[in-house]
Amino acid sequence: MIDYSDSKFESNSSNELLSTSFVSEDAAEGSLRPKRLSEYIGQEKVKRNLEVFIEGAKRRGEPLDHVILHGPPGLGKTTLAAIIANEMGVMMRKTSGPAIEKPKDLAALLTNLNENDILFIDEIHRMNRTVEEILYPAMEDRQIDIIIGQGPAATSICLELKNFTLVGATTRSGQLSSPLRDRFGIDLKLELYTPKDLKKIVERSAGILDIEIEPEGAFEIACRSRGTPRIANRLLRRVRDFAQVYGEGIITKEIADNALVRLEIDKCGLDAVDRKLLRSVIENYGGGPVGLDTIAATVNEESVTIEDVYEPYLMQQGFLTRTPRGRCVTKKAYDHLGIDFVGQTSINLQ
Ligand code: ADE
Repeated sequence: MIDYSDSKFESNSSNELLSTSFVSEDAAEGSLRPKRLSEYIGQEKVKRNLEVFIEGAKRRGEPLDHVILHGPPGLGKTTLAAIIANEMGVMMRKTSGPAIEKPKDLAALLTNLNENDILFIDEIHRMNRTVEEILYPAMEDRQIDIIIGQGPAATSICLELKNFTLVGATTRSGQLSSPLRDRFGIDLKLELYTPKDLKKIVERSAGILDIEIEPEGAFEIACRSRGTPRIANRLLRRVRDFAQVYGEGIITKEIADNALVRLEIDKCGLDAVDRKLLRSVIENYGGGPVGLDTIAATVNEESVTIEDVYEPYLMQQGFLTRTPRGRCVTKKAYDHLGIDFVGQTSINLQ
């Protein structure tokens, strides 16, 4: 139940909790985001299923069921939420788990939605429990309980909400509580992109930004972007700088390769932190197993950053494995770093 007695509820709807447009650190990034499902490259399984769910809901004249999107950062969860809104022909209100501090904040968001609107909550796993509990009846029965007044005069009323779709995004599905997870009817997991799909994304972005790029140049950037469109688009802009300063402004394979070497991104797409991480596990812990917090302290990064940002790509590429006893570096990582693999604990000799 929500206590409104001290609430500045009415004035809350236009504060930083809520934004109906994208606020990007880089304005250019916004222009690169696809607006429709047909423009969205990759994630074929997700796209095919989503198409059916959207079409079904539209034919029935109903809002889309609540959607949870999970996957590492930079794969396009926010983009996909905005695409869902466009395809359904509704508005999207955007907020994030940590921005919703109190139940009344969430109530303000929910009661200000128009019929069938989408409420997008990024980093939904970081929402606090008291706020989360308001979501359960809102998602299930489109209602919230509120308390009006104070002390013995306080009364509780049940407020009916308009139809809405909650789209939640999370980098850590393991941290979602079961009651919350169970209330999403549509569960979509985004995977790291293949170089082939990232090449198409780089070429599409180059077209929008009016950058001349050869197919081999696009593929070079794609292969070194850790399976992540946000990184591919960032590298594209940096490589363009090199192409303009050292070349004719055209991104060739050679220009891309030279630029990426200068940016310390190697042939496998590993950056300086990836290599430092692998090297430190090898040099200090015999290749593992070693705990996440120990690794984080050694490379001077937060454990969550290691887990969300670095590990998914290192594991997908087969440089790192997770075991019940800790993280282990593989022979492939030794070979990549040019370090002799002289045998490790049996766990790492698979
Ligand atoms: N830009 C960023 N992500 C994209 C995607 N999946 N498809 C097309 N363009 C993108």
